Amino acid sequence: MVYPRAAAAFLSAAILETSVIQSVDARPYLDQTLGTSGLRKPTGHMMQPHYVALFIQSAFEELGVAGATLVVGGDGRFFNDQAIQTILKMAVAHEVGHVVVGRGGLLSTPAASALIRARKAKAGIILSASHNPGGPEGDSGIKINAAHGGPIPLAVSDAIHARTRTCARYAIADIPDIPLGKDGRHQIRATVVEVIDSVADYVRLMEGLFDFDRIAGLFRSGFTMRFDAMNAVTGPYATELFHRRLGLPEAHLMNRVPMPDFGGLHPDPNPHHAAALVDLVAGRSEADFGAASDGDGDRNLIIGRGLVVSPSDSLAVIAANAHLVPGYRDGLAGVARSMPTSRALDRVAAALGVNCHVTPTGWKFFANLLEAGLITICGEESAGTGSNHVREKDGLWAVMMWLNILAERRLSVGQVLRDHWQAYGRDYYQRLDFEEVDTAGAEDLMATLRGRLPALAGELAGRLTVTDANDFAYTDPVDGSSATKQGVQIVADEARIVYRLSGTGTRGATLRVYLERFAPRGADHGLLPAEALAEVQEIATQVADVTRFTGRTSASVIS
Ligand code: G6P
Ligand code: ZN
Repeated sequence: MVYPRAAAAFLSAAILETSVIQSVDARPYLDQTLGTSGLRKPTGHMMQPHYVALFIQSAFEELGVAGATLVVGGDGRFFNDQAIQTILKMAVAHEVGHVVVGRGGLLSTPAASALIRARKAKAGIILSASHNPGGPEGDSGIKINAAHGGPIPLAVSDAIHARTRTCARYAIADIPDIPLGKDGRHQIRATVVEVIDSVADYVRLMEGLFDFDRIAGLFRSGFTMRFDAMNAVTGPYATELFHRRLGLPEAHLMNRVPMPDFGGLHPDPNPHHAAALVDLVAGRSEADFGAASDGDGDRNLIIGRGLVVSPSDSLAVIAANAHLVPGYRDGLAGVARSMPTSRALDRVAAALGVNCHVTPTGWKFFANLLEAGLITICGEESAGTGSNHVREKDGLWAVMMWLNILAERRLSVGQVLRDHWQAYGRDYYQRLDFEEVDTAGAEDLMATLRGRLPALAGELAGRLTVTDANDFAYTDPVDGSSATKQGVQIVADEARIVYRLSGTGTRGATLRVYLERFAPRGADHGLLPAEALAEVQEIATQVADVTRFTGRTSASVIS
């Protein structure tokens, strides 16, 4: 598409005029720290004058973007439209060669990862605060991904942060907003801005991995599914994949139109925030299968009749059955999980005879392992699962894995799970979140626990025997970088307790306490997690003195 006439005239004249590129002076912000998933702030905070521009200036300087290709898009949340225009105008000023933008500014995180790789982009900028609420009172975020399609490594995010502390000037083109509503190419000075269909490339990628005919056959056989897009980015992707390609009735897609405030919902696909879907499928058994994805499309929730599959179990089931799916027929090079994720995956890896890498929380650690070909499938307790098809976790991919596995095995979700536990044993699992607690108190709790680690060996609250208590540290086998203080883990008999502070919150601190207890083959696998873990929970809260440090007697969310 050609740039609208009036603007084109303005722009071609502008090409000769250096004054069209403005250099804007501003005072640096000192709080642009990049967390687990880039820069994430309350929206009002992100909307402060020059806030986005100074951050992008720092990122562009660190990455070196002149002449390069960039991918830009996000989950459609409030303020993304403005932030995207700022980024595009700054890309022109920085003489970026080619910017690929999703139509309407929409790109799911996994679709962006795929595009970065397919277009050999130098980097991607993803506008999302993931599963956090959107709108003026919600959160905003800017994630930067590397050329491999995954989150930038720690060294790069640290370097960008260091630049933000002194960055006091940015360059931006003084041009009208670039229309993103229709596909097409806009040549602006030395930069081509290409607006593309947000969905097409991603669906093609899925076609290469899954047996669409077989899944469509499953639907034709009477199998029913509900998918909840939570008014966020996966709506258009799910409509194309599940409805147009696989034949799921459109009415069985819930909340499928992306909205800037996610319709006031909290786009986090956990049983708490996806309660309507859980009630429909697990509670009232109105469908065989239920699934949801988060704001930016990288997380997933899997539900069967009468049950919610824990993310750690889902990961283990996917790895154990991957050979049934065309894209993984040749087997797995290895697998990986984050440290707080349950050890169910380790048991599958042992049976398959492949390595199970254990990393700190955060997809960037997986990205390195995937890039080096050391693993094929990986995932986290925080509802992220993915494979080597991109370098991000991928919510719809996980749903497609389950659908393809169910289409092959023709069992219910519950039967698949029960079979799995019978073969490998069951890792009962629960996560307690103490949200928005006082930061100093939470840090004190962690420091006190760390100090007590040596003394913990031997016994724990008189009931379980501690066999290992450590502060998780990781040395990346690919780039040799190391990460310390990644969470305290206490292993006691067949139980494990993990404590860490969330890296994604924007208000106060969130303490996460992860509980796990293994019931081997032949043991009772039919308990509720809360029953099986009651004792472990009691010990976990006592040992860390959770109430004293956080002032809370119970968790805000249990998942
Ligand atoms: C993001 C990252 C995940 C990570 C999660 C942890 O979603 O992409 O890789 O598992 O944050 O969040 P937390 O709040 O526990 O630090
Ligand atoms: Zn997300």
